[in-house]
Amino acid sequence: TAAATGFPIVARTDFSRTTFLLEVEHPQMARAARPGQFVIVMLDDHGERIPLTIADFDREKGTITLVIQAVGKSSREMQSRCQVGGALFGLVGPMGIPSEVSDAKKVICVGGGLGVAPIFPQARAFKEAGAHVIGVVGFRSANLVFWEEKFRSVCDEFIICTDDGSAGIKGLVTQGIEQAIAEHGDIDEVVAIGPPIMMRACAEATRPHKIKTMVSLNPIMVDGTGMCGGCRVRVGGKVKFACVDGPDFDGHEVDFDDLMARLQRYRPQEAEAMEQWLE
Ligand code: FES
Repeated sequence: TAAATGFPIVARTDFSRTTFLLEVEHPQMARAARPGQFVIVMLDDHGERIPLTIADFDREKGTITLVIQAVGKSSREMQSRCQVGGALFGLVGPMGIPSEVSDAKKVICVGGGLGVAPIFPQARAFKEAGAHVIGVVGFRSANLVFWEEKFRSVCDEFIICTDDGSAGIKGLVTQGIEQAIAEHGDIDEVVAIGPPIMMRACAEATRPHKIKTMVSLNPIMVDGTGMCGGCRVRVGGKVKFACVDGPDFDGHEVDFDDLMARLQRYRPQEAEAMEQWLE
């Protein structure tokens, strides 16, 4: 059937009403993928190109894992159309420069919202490199928590933060960061992935301590090849393209106001596309 052409979807897990995981078969991609890279997904030949961070990969099974938050038109379309037994029409990548796994001895890996899944392979890579890994992940409430065991298996310490205090500590991931910094005077690096507002808060939390802080930017991406300019970001006063120069950048250098203003500008179009799709 038409639904089965492309890259087979072998597993799906729904973490909440809006967040779900897809495991997709693509042995070559699974072999090539490194933490921090992303793929571009196409549901059909005329569909939108959807950039998604690779949340995990399994070289033996030949699969990659994507975690999607269905908040916009194309991601909600994925939510309703992507089922086990079906397939992704297009899956291009891996794109972007892999995250640098530095020789940091003590690192805090922070994930919030959409960033919880993609911070996992980074935490694992630091663990494999011999670092002491402190994981800090943020959720709205306990019922949205996922991958706790998976994280605990690669983190030496693990702090869950929830908005309502229903799991772990009550508060934002920045509270988790501050707690870890207070307990350890020798954090070498912080890696943060999540919504821009969260990454900015993380960068501000570490700035006074002069702790290197890497963030993974997820601006609007169209071609993913440095041609369209859609993913333009300002870093250290220079224009960079997140798709080819990133997606990882020094959080203390990123102009988050510019990034958020640009994302905001796309909102009306996104809302319109959503309405058309719902009709
Ligand atoms: Fe087009 Fe980066 S997505 S230049």
